[in-house]
Amino acid sequence: MKFSEVRDIVKEIPFISEENAKILYDTILHQKPSDCLELGFAHGAASCYIAAALDKLGHGHLTAVDLIEAQEWQKPSIDDLLARCGLGEYVTVVREQTGYNWFLHDEIVRGSESDLCEPKYDLCVIDGSKNWTIDGLAFLLVDKLLREGGSEGEQLRRRLLSRMHDISEYMKSLKQRYTLWYNGVHGRVGTLWSERFKSVLVEGEAAALQIVSKVLA
Ligand SMILES: C[S@@+](CC[C@H](N)C(=O)[O-])C[C@H]1O[C@@H](n2cnc3c(N)ncnc32)[C@H](O)[C@@H]1O
Repeated sequence: MKFSEVRDIVKEIPFISEENAKILYDTILHQKPSDCLELGFAHGAASCYIAAALDKLGHGHLTAVDLIEAQEWQKPSIDDLLARCGLGEYVTVVREQTGYNWFLHDEIVRGSESDLCEPKYDLCVIDGSKNWTIDGLAFLLVDKLLREGGSEGEQLRRRLLSRMHDISEYMKSLKQRYTLWYNGVHGRVGTLWSERFKSVLVEGEAAALQIVSKVLA
């Protein structure tokens, strides 16, 4: 399915931006993953873009994981959206009581023999809790389940990591995505914050410790 076709169906649905959806779609066409994993699907907008790219490739599957309790606000649901796109056959929807880290734990147990885990995914999109404790562990667990990406995979990894080191770019995308989510859930429009971020010089050990304790609190 073409990018423009899926975009026309899901463009009003949170959360993924059109720009990021295009990157995801093109990455899949280029990398040709067979088995994809999405942690945190919400309404399934990104899932539809992934499934559309797999459909265009003519092969592949997506396993999409989210929380059972989130079903309440996920309207339209991932199943509705996939049906609208006619892409349901490409996706297995998993709803977990306890979150995706337990799903990953179970996948590792299922795929392990003599303490060695057989990787089973080629691509993983983590777009869930945005909580260091949960997602830090998710990265660690996913790493055990991912097949080797080769030199191109390594280049892509470096490109994405470098974006994380750019505070300006990071804050821009955080603000955009959070605003999209917040406006979607609360039925509002417009901007949420006036400034992107503030930069203040922290001098002296006492001040630095105070800031660190504030961040950790
Ligand atoms: C930003 S939304 C995902 C958006 C989606 N990837 C897209 O762009 O269309 C985050 C989702 O992660 C889910 N989530 C948060 N923590 C989770 C966890 N521990 N386990 C499973 N799902 C989780 C939430 O329920 C929510 O649906």
